[in-house]
Amino acid sequence: MKKIIIAIDGPAGSGKSTTAKIVAEKLGYIYIDTGAMYRAVTLEWLRSGLDMNDENLNKMMDNLSIDLKQSEWGQRTFLNHEDVSSEIRLPDVTKYVSPISAYSYVREKLVEQQRLMGKNGGVVMDGRDIGTVVFPQAELKIYLVASISARVQRRLKESIAKGINVSEYEVKGQIVDRDDYDSSRSNSPLRKADDATEIDTSDLTIEQQSNLIIDLATKIINK
Ligand code: DC
Repeated sequence: MKKIIIAIDGPAGSGKSTTAKIVAEKLGYIYIDTGAMYRAVTLEWLRSGLDMNDENLNKMMDNLSIDLKQSEWGQRTFLNHEDVSSEIRLPDVTKYVSPISAYSYVREKLVEQQRLMGKNGGVVMDGRDIGTVVFPQAELKIYLVASISARVQRRLKESIAKGINVSEYEVKGQIVDRDDYDSSRSNSPLRKADDATEIDTSDLTIEQQSNLIIDLATKIINK
């Protein structure tokens, strides 16, 4: 059976990772969370204590390994062979990940790795630039959007579940800042690919939004 590439892009809190995981599981595909890779780079930079500039980040990128491995608890993220899956979700990483991911060499190295990971198809990759830059030839491109209030409520729920204490005001501020940063950077900004299908998830359940994508994928796979 044909193994396609499914690209899912969209802003923070639009439902990308939850949906991508379900779609991958239903189709027997590999889920690749590219945001986790940018977060791992950010964690390495935070640990280094270095200033954020081209010279330091370029050197760091040449001496670091990031691996995504599938396990029975879902995808795990490894930084230099250390499992950092929980640490990359901490507020400090979330705060700095947008500026770090705007650096050209950071993107160049991660995009190269992402292309290798998806080259044989059978993957659902989520991020900001998958349909526009990483896999412009992807057979199915989805662009997820949701209202700011829906996105804030989702992120609040996630934070509470992880025991992270943040206010609604803070969460909203973080989302707005990250949207601004991710969509205004000159290097691969967040934007909908011309041939992507836009889905507004504000009033959809996870099941509804996953089913919409699975239906689109099935049609392409069986064509
Ligand atoms: O999906 P996420 O919230 O974990 O992503 C964290 C950040 O990483 C996001 O704010 C921007 C960056 N990112 C990116 O620039 N390109 C991607 N393909 C994925 C994430």
